[in-house]
Amino acid sequence: MQRILIGDLSKHKFQSVLVAGWVKNIRDIGKIVFIDVKDRSGLVQCVCSDKNKIKSLTLESVVQVEGEVLERPKETINPNIENGEIELSVSKLVILNKCSSLPIPVDGDGYEIKEEARLAYRYLDLRRDRLNKALKLRSRLSSEIRDIFLENDFIEVETPILTASTKEGARDFVVPSRMNPGKFYALPQSPQQYKQLLMTAGIERYFQFARCVRDENLRADRGFEFTQVDVEMSFVEKSDVMDFIENMIIRVVEILGGKILEKPFPRFTYKQALERFGADKFDLRNDEQKRDGILAFAWVDNFPFFKRVDEGDLSEVRDGRSGWTFTHNPFSAPIPEHLDWHIKGENIDQIITQQYDLVCNGFEVGGGSIRAHQPEVLRATFKIMGYDDDSIEKSVGHMLKAFELGTPPHGGIALGLDRLAALILNEKSIKEVIAFPMTYQGRISVMNGPSEISKEQLIELGISVNSEKNRSGEEIDKAIQEYLKSQNKKFEYIIHPELSTSEDHKKAGIIDITEGRKCLILSGKKTKKNYLFVIPSVKKLNRKLVKEAIGEEFDFEKPEVIQSKYGVEVGGVPPFGNLINLPVYYCKSADDKEFVNFSTGIKTASIRIKTKDFLDALGNVTIGVFSD
Ligand code: AMO
Repeated sequence: MQRILIGDLSKHKFQSVLVAGWVKNIRDIGKIVFIDVKDRSGLVQCVCSDKNKIKSLTLESVVQVEGEVLERPKETINPNIENGEIELSVSKLVILNKCSSLPIPVDGDGYEIKEEARLAYRYLDLRRDRLNKALKLRSRLSSEIRDIFLENDFIEVETPILTASTKEGARDFVVPSRMNPGKFYALPQSPQQYKQLLMTAGIERYFQFARCVRDENLRADRGFEFTQVDVEMSFVEKSDVMDFIENMIIRVVEILGGKILEKPFPRFTYKQALERFGADKFDLRNDEQKRDGILAFAWVDNFPFFKRVDEGDLSEVRDGRSGWTFTHNPFSAPIPEHLDWHIKGENIDQIITQQYDLVCNGFEVGGGSIRAHQPEVLRATFKIMGYDDDSIEKSVGHMLKAFELGTPPHGGIALGLDRLAALILNEKSIKEVIAFPMTYQGRISVMNGPSEISKEQLIELGISVNSEKNRSGEEIDKAIQEYLKSQNKKFEYIIHPELSTSEDHKKAGIIDITEGRKCLILSGKKTKKNYLFVIPSVKKLNRKLVKEAIGEEFDFEKPEVIQSKYGVEVGGVPPFGNLINLPVYYCKSADDKEFVNFSTGIKTASIRIKTKDFLDALGNVTIGVFSD
């Protein structure tokens, strides 16, 4: 018998059918057992009067059911649920795959389950209705968007994933090249330059669902990987791009059942936005509209082209050699009124760019601009940032060349597809609309990664890895000081006699022990993974809370293992897990002081730094309470 979809059952009343799906509920009421079975199209109640047929059946098992589609007895008809008027009377039930005990529940919305568990078993997590619906909506969103582009004469073009560093202002993810030992590709932070070169190629209207990769601090609205709806158009002005995108968004959002607060989208200059909202991303909704999940889009334009470099930001320092760097996109054009200043490098702080951002409910969902398409304009941008002719040639010479070979005026935009989908679904994090997102620790879900590679691979690639050699405590101490300086953090470096334990420190009285932080390396009993816990020196680790945080039983790692694996002695372990490749769990406490003190990789020095700066520098760590 051919399988039919559960969603089509009501068309097969009083017929024998075969369905297949997952067991969602089993209710044994004595003589008969009700089993809810769900497939991709819907759910149906199956009635089984022979308990032998369903012996050892468990929830979430995959089953194949043969039976007759019957009308439910009148008093049990429920018009409010799907297939509420029918049921399947089971004649045969085959278990195709038995589900053992579930590591996470899959009914309910799942918000209360810890991230690690949800991501380790993402394939189960995705079975829950909420996430299943999110993936469906995302797919629909993409397909509606694609239709609109194709209707409007755009063509979809794929651009390379292995590429050279792009200038989006974040850190690159790099990939070693086997054929060019010691050289690296960069993964694209966006297809910006390729899409502009497609305009030189005469494509005129380009779009792509582009995967972009940026190594930046992870947040609810930021992933390492994300998807842009990337667009570029030739012979256009600002309003052409904005109007096209606005109409597209209104159409797709409304098709998907979203409600938009104001149409056309209100437009603010950067200055007006700062005056009115104190920020260039803002939420125009009142509390009631927030509760109803209404979408409040708005445009912001007339941004300053340049800003002073933030010296704590390495990529800004790299790009802004003169102390000036771009605010949004170095490939943008200034507004025509400021072209003269731009070319001459005058009044840099006043030059306005033809950049526009789309915001929604407090998030930036898109950004784009009219580009510089004359070589002298792009060259002037890099001159303002302090590049000499040689370094301009090295970084954007290929663009300047294309701009001498018939590049039309052009402009475009990129929308954050993950953010747009999350907003339509009223989800707080983009992870809820991504099938396999990363953890906050930057680990991939479902599989083990990032992971080490074999010595053979390293040799083949011509690279050596520092941690292979093991940095010494002294090297780690130096690296921490350099790192904090690069982050522009002020700190005090305190040299003292060798002190190992909190007790030693207390006796010596050189640092204020209540500001002290001890760093403990733990070893998971099941996974054998190491974890770094940073807790107040005056407190004790709370085993129960730690176990909850890491999801397994643990031991303290053996001192000799710590020494050989991480190059530091117990007592000298630093809190910067990133320097020794360990995930960090930071214990906050009600009586945290303004300053903290910690070891730096050696037992003869400590660093004292403002707690706020310390947490900032630690970056991606799990913060919680792990001691008492
Ligand atoms: P921009 O850097 O503003 O512009 O990126 C465009 C949009 O992409 C989304 N976005 C992200 N979403 C999730 N995680 C991230 N880490 C992340 N970073 C950005 C945002 C953002 O508005 N090349 C230009 C576009 C152009 O000028 O055409 C660019 O990449 O929603």
